[in-house]
Amino acid sequence: MAPSVKQALGLSAAVNSPTEVYREVPFVALPRQYEEEREAILNCVDRVFRRGVFVSLAHLEELESRLADACGVRHSIGVGSGTDALFLILKGYGVGEGDEVITPPNSHFSTTSSIIHAGAVPVFADVGDDQSIDPARVEAAITPRTRAIMPVHLTGRIADMAAITDIARRHGLLVIEDAAQAFGAKQDGRAAGSFGDAAAFSAHPLKVFNAAGDAGFITTGDGELAARLRSLRNNGLKGREQVDEWGYAARLDVLQGEFLLMRLDRLPDLIARRRANVASYQARLNKTHVYFPEDGEDQFSVFQNFVIQVERRDALKDYLADRGIKTAIHYPVPIHLQPAARSLGYGNGDFPVTERQAGRILSLPVHPYLSPGDIDYVTEAVNSFFESV
Ligand SMILES: Cc1ncc(COP(=O)(O)O)c(C=O)c1O
Repeated sequence: MAPSVKQALGLSAAVNSPTEVYREVPFVALPRQYEEEREAILNCVDRVFRRGVFVSLAHLEELESRLADACGVRHSIGVGSGTDALFLILKGYGVGEGDEVITPPNSHFSTTSSIIHAGAVPVFADVGDDQSIDPARVEAAITPRTRAIMPVHLTGRIADMAAITDIARRHGLLVIEDAAQAFGAKQDGRAAGSFGDAAAFSAHPLKVFNAAGDAGFITTGDGELAARLRSLRNNGLKGREQVDEWGYAARLDVLQGEFLLMRLDRLPDLIARRRANVASYQARLNKTHVYFPEDGEDQFSVFQNFVIQVERRDALKDYLADRGIKTAIHYPVPIHLQPAARSLGYGNGDFPVTERQAGRILSLPVHPYLSPGDIDYVTEAVNSFFESV
C-alpha cells in the first residue's frame, strides 16, 4: 500500500485525519479578522463618513483617555505610527545632537532610525536569551553623553523594567519604552507603557492591537511632555493659528481611531487566544531541540510573535513551508549589521547574543484565527523535523 500523505510527511496519525494533513497555515489572517468583525468595522466606516470629519484631534479624545487608563498613566497621544511615536518622544524631550540613546540591536529598524532622525546617536547593548536588552550591558554602555535608555518589549514580552528603571534613576537618564509590540502586556501587575518616562506603541495592521493602516500612540505620565507632543504632532500648532515651534503632520486619523476604539473592547479576547496558542505550543514542542523563553509569574506577554530558537533554522523554515506552514524571522539581520548602520562603526562579533539568535530564531504562526488543529499540525511538523534528522 502506498504511504498516506501523513506517513509521507512523517506526521503521527494522532492529530489529523489523512484528508486534513496538508493545511495552509498562514502567518497572518487579516481577512479572517474582517469576517469576525465585519459589522463593527462597517459601523465605524459609516459613522466616520457620515460625519465627514477625518482629521480631528477632538475626535481622538475618548480613545486617548481609554488608552491612558488601560496603561495606568495620565496621558495618551494618538499619532500616525509607532515610528512617529518614538521620534516625537525624543523630540519632545529635546534628545538630539550630542546625545546617546542605548537600545538593543535586534529590534525593528525604526527603534534605531527614530534616534538617528532626532539627531542623536544609537548605542547598542546586547540582549539576553529572552531577546530583551540585558541590563548589565546597558549599564556598561553608559557614557557622559547618554541621555536615554530605549528598551524594546520585543515579541510582546516586557523587558526587565525593574533593573532598567533602577539604572536610569542612578544615572539620571530618561527611559523611553519601545512598546510597539506590547500593548496589553504586563509585568508585576503593571502595564507596558507605564514604566518609563514615556512609551511608544504601534497599531500597525500586523500588531496585536491593530488599525487598518499606519497608526500609533504615546503614553506618558509627564503632563509637560504630553502638552508639547500634542502640539508637535500637529505641525507645532497651539490653537488654530499660532505656531510656537516647528512640528510635524503626525496625527492619528479619525477612522483609524474609530477602529482602535472598537477593538479595545475585543482586545482581551484576542490576547487570550494568542496566549492559548502559545500555551499549546509550549506544552508540546520538543524542548530537546526547541528553545523558547518561558514567562515567570510576574510576566504577562501578549505574543505579538511566538519565537523559537533552533539549530538548522533555515532548513526547518523550508520544511514547514513545504507543509503549507508560513513562518517569519524577526529579524534575520541585526540592525548594527545593516548597510544603513555602517557609519555607526559596528561590525560582526560586536553583539554575539543578538548575532547568534539572528541565525536561530523563527516566529511560528500565533494569530487568534488559528484553530487547535492548526496548532497541532504546526507542533507535529516542528517535532517531526527534528525526529527525522
Ligand atoms: C519594536 C518596534 N518598534 C517600532 C515599530 C514601528 O512601528 P510602526 O510600524 O507603527 O511605525 C515597530 C513596528 O513594526 C516595532 O515592531
